[in-house]
Amino acid sequence: MATQSAKSHVKSIKIAIVGAGSVGVTTAYALLLSGLAAEIVLIDIDKNRAQGEAMDLSHAAHYAQARVIAGDYEDCHGAAAVIITAGVNQKPGQTRMDLVKTNYSLFKTIVPQIAKAAPDTILLVATNPVDVLTHAAHQFSGFPVERVIGSGTAMDTTRFRHELGRHYGVNPRNVHAVIIGEHGDSQLPAWSLATISGMRLQDYCSQSGKEYSEAAMDEVSRRTKEAAYEIIQRKGKTNYGVASVLVSILEPIITNGDAIMTISRVGTYGGVEDVALSMPCRLNREGAHRDVPLLLNGKEKEAVKNSALSIKEAIMSI
Ligand SMILES: NC(=O)c1ccc[n+]([C@@H]2O[C@H](COP(=O)([O-])OP(=O)(O)OC[C@H]3O[C@@H](n4cnc5c(N)ncnc54)[C@H](O)[C@@H]3O)[C@@H](O)[C@H]2O)c1
Repeated sequence: MATQSAKSHVKSIKIAIVGAGSVGVTTAYALLLSGLAAEIVLIDIDKNRAQGEAMDLSHAAHYAQARVIAGDYEDCHGAAAVIITAGVNQKPGQTRMDLVKTNYSLFKTIVPQIAKAAPDTILLVATNPVDVLTHAAHQFSGFPVERVIGSGTAMDTTRFRHELGRHYGVNPRNVHAVIIGEHGDSQLPAWSLATISGMRLQDYCSQSGKEYSEAAMDEVSRRTKEAAYEIIQRKGKTNYGVASVLVSILEPIITNGDAIMTISRVGTYGGVEDVALSMPCRLNREGAHRDVPLLLNGKEKEAVKNSALSIKEAIMSI
């Protein structure tokens, strides 16, 4: 929920969502309930669907005091951020990279239209494969890298903290640990920096009398990486987790909050230039700032490089 001062600021906040499918609409609903935006615009190639969803949401908006409308790209004008969730999603057994060609060509049409209508906005990309498409959104918008953000491993980091919290029996909010790299199969946990109660995991275990087990940590990492596949196998899609993550990325952008989150941004990683992947970034109304590089160990640095190379290969293959 927004604080009192943030609430007065949000009176002027408009957020546009391109793609009124499962992720787009769940995000609109989460955003509505957060009280962070005064106006939400839904844009979809299927205008009927966008209108129906906007009508339904505007009845919920009655209780949340925001306006929800269906619109077109011109309606992105004045938006503090435009969230892109348009595109095809994974079917059971597919990887995120399997979606690359279809969603890349879709971005080629939609991103220039958003950039024309809202030249000062911040783009927040959720469509998969999110790192490749964050790179594409940067390319097609011509925006500075700070203003093109991919949801990246923010979702995986949330899942990772959830899994670690469950394993150690502590609230995930008290676990400081991040997943970096690709939002996909080459992602990695930054184990050397993970802490609970300000202590590295091994120290936390020895202080609390718990066992530190490499095998258990590998299992936590595996469950984190495979969570989306597990959910898609069962319900055909993921929507609630990602919607909440998108709103939590928007919050510091709207409130100029300087919160640090693992999001995807174009840059140079492990010596690989002009690629997008996730590292912790400071988020505020100007966008995403990568001002403090992580102190990774040699093995982690190598894994970041491999992740960057695998995303770069996907970009070059289009
Ligand atoms: N980043 C993450 O953590 C994360 C999590 C879940 C899903 N996703 C991704 O989000 C995307 C959307 O997933 P979904 O489940 O909402 O799919 P969905 O099929 O429910 O919705 C996609 C929507 O995009 C619209 N669309 C298609 N082409 C369009 C165009 N040219 N212009 C405007 N709208 C267009 C469709 O009409 C549809 O309403 C997928 O790529 C999926 O993989 C990302």
